[in-house]
This record gives sequence, structure tokens and C-alpha cells, in this order.
Amino acid sequence: MDCCHYYRSTESGDHLFSIDLSRIRFGPGSLNELAWEINGTGARSIGLFTDSTVKNLELFDVAVRSLQSAGVEIHIYDEVCIEPTDGSFEDASRFAMEQRVDGFISIGGGSVIDTCKAANLFSTYPAAFQTYVNAPLGDGQAIPGPLKPHIACPTTCGTGSECTGIAVFDFARASSKTGIMSRHLLPDKAIIDPRWTHSLPRQVVAATGFDAISHALESFTARPYHTRARPQSPEFRPMTQGANPWSDLLCSEALRLAGQNLVRAVNDADDFKARGAMMYAATLSGAAFGNAGCHLPHAMSYPISALVRNHPPKGYSQETPMCPHGVSVILNAPAAYEFTCKSTPERHLEGASLLGAQAKDIRLNEAGTLLSEHLLNMMQQTGMPNGIKDIGFKSSDIDDLVVGALAQERLLSVSPRKVSEQALKDIYTRALEYW
Ligand SMILES: [Fe+2]
Repeated sequence: MDCCHYYRSTESGDHLFSIDLSRIRFGPGSLNELAWEINGTGARSIGLFTDSTVKNLELFDVAVRSLQSAGVEIHIYDEVCIEPTDGSFEDASRFAMEQRVDGFISIGGGSVIDTCKAANLFSTYPAAFQTYVNAPLGDGQAIPGPLKPHIACPTTCGTGSECTGIAVFDFARASSKTGIMSRHLLPDKAIIDPRWTHSLPRQVVAATGFDAISHALESFTARPYHTRARPQSPEFRPMTQGANPWSDLLCSEALRLAGQNLVRAVNDADDFKARGAMMYAATLSGAAFGNAGCHLPHAMSYPISALVRNHPPKGYSQETPMCPHGVSVILNAPAAYEFTCKSTPERHLEGASLLGAQAKDIRLNEAGTLLSEHLLNMMQQTGMPNGIKDIGFKSSDIDDLVVGALAQERLLSVSPRKVSEQALKDIYTRALEYW
């Protein structure tokens, strides 16, 4: 496709890109239409996945009443934990099999939606756990066919999991985060009701909002799809195919919205307009990275999540050490973009500008610094930690973090600039403390 100067056909590079997307219903009140949506799937025995916090919210009752009016059988699973593991995926899958559900609804953040995807997969095509897990940590086998209907209802403004075919988890047996990826995991429908954001703690809005920003920035700066080798068969074209004209559209709008609304949404719980805009930005950036892909900030975040020892996050119900996904991503991001900007400075400059940075008269060799400084400014305004030192990491931990990041081959392959072991060490060192 030679639609613009950035994407060019080459002899050996891929010559097309694909778009996979859930059917989306967005807006306040959309949750009330759950009955109509579930009836459209034909499912009658529903596995309703959530967590113990969301289950006690008033809007959860709205969803249950809507389902009751549809006359379906409801089996509630409320034991999803934040940052799920292989063990918690297996528990949820067992529940789905025991209850013989023929349709799935997930109501929660990314952890809930990802757990529901896994329960749908393993109850539809039972197999040893590692079968479908990304290689090299798992066997990386293809999912045999379509899954049962899944309606995803996100309650936070960041993960975008309702629009992706990716389920991420902490693979305890391999001491690393990884995922299961397939177009079959993409939820059939997404019901996105911004009313969920009204009661979110500010720390959750910040963490999930920065996750959304990084999905958009990473997709926007990802290696372009035409630079990847042309697949021998369509089945080998990866979902995370690289930046493409369609994901660019979504990223641009997501960045513009997030730049204007994140700080307001975090600092003013009554600014429903800003929180609603962040929910929309998160959906757009989720749909973008589901078709383009994330790279360095996400690859570097997974070992941080796996190795964090003493970060009791405010605003989260979990008491054990845990680093919210969006925090682990954004703490690497300023340093990572300073590194990747050398490959495509014009993209980094445009990303910074969309986010609201003053890009006029900035030279291309200053693009990485501009983007990095703008992100740091937003992080300071929203109470983010000052680098990974603030969440308990020391210089002596960097070698272990690098080993964990190097294992994220799929994400690293989408990076616009090839990253070496030494470069990862340097980026983590820079990310220890920023201001
Ligand atoms: Fe993410």
C-alpha cells in the first residue's frame, strides 16, 4: 500500500495489513442493553466473570438485572485476581467447565477480561496449560477454531483488552509474564459504559490511563508492517503486525484525547467528561495495539511486574506486593522512547505533539527528549512514582530485569530500533530515577 510516504511496498516485505475488531457499543447507559446483546449470541448459560471489588458496585447489579430480564442462567465467578497467573487462569477455566457455560461475559479491568478469555479457551478446547501459551515459554500452538460468545465490559480506562485477542498472565512456572494470542480470543462484543469510571480511585485512573497512552504511542512508533517479511500464508501474519495506516488513525485520536484529559480525569473525580474521554481513548488505543503491537515499554514492564517486592499500591484492593500494569509500563516509557526515537524521530515528534507537547521549532534530533519530558511532566502531575527506584528496585536488580525483558521476543520484534542487552541495561538504569 503506497497511501503515504511512511508505508511503501517492497519486494520481500508484507504488502497488506489486516484489521480485527470486536463489535463495539460505547456510551453511558450501554450496559443497560446487555440483555439485548446476550440474546443476540444465542447463549443461555452464562459465565459472568468479575472481581470482588466490581461485584459490589451498583452498576454490576444493573448488568445482572439486565441479564435476568433476558431469562438466561447466570453463573458468577468473582475470584479473578489482579495480575492473573497460570494458576488463576486454570481455576477460572475449571469453573467454566464445571458450570457448562455456553457464553461468557466479563465485567472488570484487563485482568478480568483476560481471565475470561482463558476460561473460554480452555473450556472450549481443553488442553495442557502450556499448549496455547506464546513460545518460547509455552508451546505456541494455534487455537483450533472459534470460541464461545464473549461480551467484554471494561470498567477501567486503559487496558483495551475488550478489543484485543491477547490474554496476559504471570506464568509462575516460568517466573515470567507472557500471554496467549489469537484472533479467536478477541471478544465478539465490547460494551463500554463510561459510568464505570465515576467511582474509580485516582490512582487507578492514572495507571490505566498511562497504559492507554503507551498502547497508542507504542503502536504509533512500532516497526511499520511493510518492513516485516511477507508471510508464506495468511495464517502466519501476526496480529501484532506493526504500525499501519488504520492503527495510526486510532492512535492519533487516542493521544489527542489522552493529552487533553488524563491529568483532569485523575485530579478531579467529578470531571466525568474527562473520565469518559479517557475511556474512549483507551478503547481506540486498545483497538490500535491489537492490530499493530506494543514494543519496548511493555516488554520492559513484564519483569518489573514479576519481580516487584515491596510496592503496596494505593487505590487497589490487593495487599500483597504488586505493581499495577500501567505503572510498570509508564516508568520505562520516557527512557525507552529516548532510545527508540533514533529510528523514527518524525513519528516520536508527532506522537509528542498529539499528546500536547510544544513541538513547534523542535528539531528531529530533539524529538525523543521532547516526548520523554512531556511524559514526565504528565507523570508528575498525576502522582506517578519517580522511576523504578520508587517502587523498590535497585541498580543491582537490573541484570535480572534485562533477562526478563529479553524473554519478551514477540514485543521486542515490533520495536522500531533493535535493542541489545547493553541497551536494555542502559534504559533500565535511566528509568531508576527521573527527577
Ligand atoms: Fe498494556
